Amino acid sequence: MEEKNLNQIGVSFKGSGSYVPDQILTNQKISQKVDTSDEWIKSRTGISERRISSLGDNVTDMGYKAALNAIDNANWDVKTIDLIVLATSTPHDLFGSAPSIQAKLGASNAVAFDLTAACSGFLFALITASQFLKGGNFKRAVVIGADQLSSFVDWKDRRSCILFGDGAGALAIEATNEFDNFIGFDMRTDGKRGSFLNLPSKNKKDSIIDNIDFLSGSFSPIQMNGQEVYKFAVKEVPIILDKLFREKNYTSDQVDWLVLHQANQRILDSVGERLKIPREKILSNLEKYGNTSAATIPLMMDEAIRNQNIKQNDIIATSGFGAGLSWGAALIKWG
Ligand code: COA
Repeated sequence: MEEKNLNQIGVSFKGSGSYVPDQILTNQKISQKVDTSDEWIKSRTGISERRISSLGDNVTDMGYKAALNAIDNANWDVKTIDLIVLATSTPHDLFGSAPSIQAKLGASNAVAFDLTAACSGFLFALITASQFLKGGNFKRAVVIGADQLSSFVDWKDRRSCILFGDGAGALAIEATNEFDNFIGFDMRTDGKRGSFLNLPSKNKKDSIIDNIDFLSGSFSPIQMNGQEVYKFAVKEVPIILDKLFREKNYTSDQVDWLVLHQANQRILDSVGERLKIPREKILSNLEKYGNTSAATIPLMMDEAIRNQNIKQNDIIATSGFGAGLSWGAALIKWG
């Protein structure tokens, strides 16, 4: 680690990248597995299809490809990267997948670790990395959101299996002493409501030798109370964004783009309505990918940056929310 540079006062956004697996699971195909229909899924969620990982597409593979795209987009030499944070709830290795991504990238000067906060994960990781940069310890960071929830979905549960898909996205961010494009953020957790959305470990008792038990490790599929999660999102997300706007002396009409965690089109519409942000400013790609958990925000941002919707100096309000329950918001200027 190089000497601390206390003049680093701000963060700038230098590049984006993403990756999704090739396999497409349409609503029509899901209806061959569970009792549902394209019409039901589309009208309740806005989702038409999602991507499903196969061999060669685990979180390390997807995260690596998204990170490489972001690094190329930023035009960085991988050796100049100081920090890699991987937001995921579905690592390929429970000890952490970020180190494998660091090795695949050849980013040998970067410290790399995982961060778990479910669908708030990318936002929490972006905030975490920004604090390291503003603290003066690191200059360049790659923040990745990657998830493979298809491995943990109960494909017999029509109330939840329709929602999720796999993918990855990444942003390349840099410390600067000239300006700060990370305008502000807020983060919240309410563990008391945690039972609304879980991917819990299955504690199966076994014994090592006589009288010494242990709990073998595996996970139960995703358990979700959809209605409660829905109510939580449409209530808390506008509150946290509105509070952030007020704190930073912004009004919602100064926002160029609202980039919400892509959970459900009805949630996006409702948050937009409450904040009085018109539909054309609310970015959405969940029709194609569903809810890719920690990947949704960078996947959406990368698409909008590459098709030149998001331009230099655009103001982006973003919010992640989900299991924990956890939620957060950030206000940034692109560039
Ligand atoms: N296809 C057809 N019918 C379905 C169905 C499906 N895939 N899933 C549920 N239903 C049925 C239910 O069985 C229920 O039938 P009933 O009235 O005969 O009992 C009916 O549809 C309504 O179910 P309900 O759970 O009230 O639906 P909903 O309008 O709340 O929509 C979700 C369900 C999951 C789409 C919605 O609650 C949601 O999006 N919640 C947020 C979930 C989320 O975003 N999670 C991740 C957060 S990070």
